[in-house]
Amino acid sequence: MGRFEIIHLNRIDSTNTYAYKLAKEGKRDIVVVADEQTSGRGRLNRVWFSDFGGLYFSIVLESDVDKFPVLNFLAPICMVKTLKNYSNKNYGIKWPNDIIVNNKKICGILSEINVEYGFMVLGIGINVNNKIREEIRDIATSLKEVEGKEFDKMEILKTFLEIFESYLNNLSPENILKEYKENSLTLNEYVKIITPNREIFGHVVDITYEGIVLQTDEKLEIVDVGDCIHLRKVFPSPYGSN
Ligand code: BTN
Repeated sequence: MGRFEIIHLNRIDSTNTYAYKLAKEGKRDIVVVADEQTSGRGRLNRVWFSDFGGLYFSIVLESDVDKFPVLNFLAPICMVKTLKNYSNKNYGIKWPNDIIVNNKKICGILSEINVEYGFMVLGIGINVNNKIREEIRDIATSLKEVEGKEFDKMEILKTFLEIFESYLNNLSPENILKEYKENSLTLNEYVKIITPNREIFGHVVDITYEGIVLQTDEKLEIVDVGDCIHLRKVFPSPYGSN
């Protein structure tokens, strides 16, 4: 028996919304998993298509503001490890926590914190057997597409939770940061970061729990939220778009 109680639903608006509600009622160490979401939510107020065949789940964890960034970096590390259990392709983390394979996104993570109640909800969506919709074909892929066969998504969830739990039992922020950087596709890249109020171009010289460290034309900047676009490294300008 693992640490987490699993609540399996056929269909829900969003497992994050449902888990958040349960967390406010005092539930901890639960995993809400749904076969379909009718209003799946992505980062930065985007929609997360959640058709049947994908794995959509949200974990409720006790957390304060110090633990939040650590758990946020831990989740994609565990997801990369999980996917490598089923596929020997190159999986990596695009900052902050997208999982990429073959230059396309296979998994996204939406984490939400409630400081007053001391919890976080870690929402994870993986394209497993679901058909990738036409409009995101260029940027998204699924495990089925990558490997050419179907997978048991509840088995994948079980593997993820086992790996995740083993890290939680011995939480080491230094180690997690190190592993995050080892799996990062963004470190050392030239990027454009689109924050809610501006765009920043720069070279990613480091990644920390405070954000990514960018060398821009003018200065060294730490950016904590935003969307990251990797740019082509071409001479003379490193900033040609990808
Ligand atoms: C992103 O890449 O923008 C994050 C996507 C997160 C999607 C997951 S699916 C399970 C959970 N419930 C949601 O509504 N969103 C997350």
